[in-house]
Amino acid sequence: MSVGVLGTGHYLPTKLVTNKDMEKFVDTTDEWIRTRTGIEERRFAEDDIDTSDMAFFAAQQALEEANVTADEIDLILTATVTPDTPFPSVSCMIQEKLGAKNAAAMDVSAACSGFMYGMITAMQFIETNAYKKILVIGAEKLSKIINWEDRSTCVLLGDGAGAAVIGEVSEGKGILSFELGSNGAGGKELYQNEQDLLVMNGREVYKFAVRQMPESTVNVIDKAGLQKEDVDYLIPHQANIRIMEAARERLGISEDRMAKTVKKYGNNSAASIPMALSEAVKNGKVKDDDVIVLVGFGGGLTWGAVALRW
Ligand code: ACO
Repeated sequence: MSVGVLGTGHYLPTKLVTNKDMEKFVDTTDEWIRTRTGIEERRFAEDDIDTSDMAFFAAQQALEEANVTADEIDLILTATVTPDTPFPSVSCMIQEKLGAKNAAAMDVSAACSGFMYGMITAMQFIETNAYKKILVIGAEKLSKIINWEDRSTCVLLGDGAGAAVIGEVSEGKGILSFELGSNGAGGKELYQNEQDLLVMNGREVYKFAVRQMPESTVNVIDKAGLQKEDVDYLIPHQANIRIMEAARERLGISEDRMAKTVKKYGNNSAASIPMALSEAVKNGKVKDDDVIVLVGFGGGLTWGAVALRW
């Protein structure tokens, strides 16, 4: 059986904050942020919009695109490090909001790699015929955990949500290969502290990411029996343009074949890959039969990659 994406959706918060705006309340410059990260602006959710609200909007759009009704959903998996509350889960909140009365629901905790973990978990349930249709969501209100006293992290992050309906697709399409991994010893490099704020050792995370992301990308291409030149579009975790470029250069594909939402949205953690995927589908960057690679890394440390035929 082939398992793939039946529909995608995303939600962009309305509050737009440019680097120039950031200069007004953080000791930073537009030039520093652009050259070190590729970020030009980010979106923050309004006070009355929490993670589950953004997730709900993205999920609704994904269901519509997939032409699937809420009661057809068997399982909801939301990847997030910024749930509304530790429990009930965001997935349970969405189940209620959507009226997905037949769905089981739980959240996935794998930081920025969470959407990849969710997608591959969904694949197992479908391949074993346990479930038919699963909603996988990446949603983050990172503005809740930004440390505004730390200029090396506060300029990087943004809010948003992306979603995908996962189910059976025609033979030869869908997920061709995957890789998931973790290294708990690196947990100290990126975590949430006792004040609930994000703490990151930027240099260590950078070193890990710049090695792991190209490696995982190449691994899933090999596992799928493909060549680098078969890849039509690359969707890396949108953390830093320099890390993304390392993966792109290793693949040897042209700039226009890599998603670069980091420029407009910053780093949206677990939401960044499904947001970029949904946008690429809507912009016609990802077309029928294209081979695409999704690849993420993040706190844990964790990583995950998927090669799929659209
Ligand atoms: N504005 C101006 N100067 C700054 C800022 C800022 N916002 N932040 C840091 N600086 C200064 C530092 O104080 C330092 O100054 P010093 O040399 O006088 O001490 C200087 O800039 C250089 O700092 P570095 O940390 O060396 O900068 P670097 O080139 O490593 O870039 C960055 C920092 C962008 C954070 C980089 O390390 C990085 O991208 N790391 C990986 C981040 C990442 O991918 N995270 C993903 C996981 S997090 C998540 O997804 C939720």
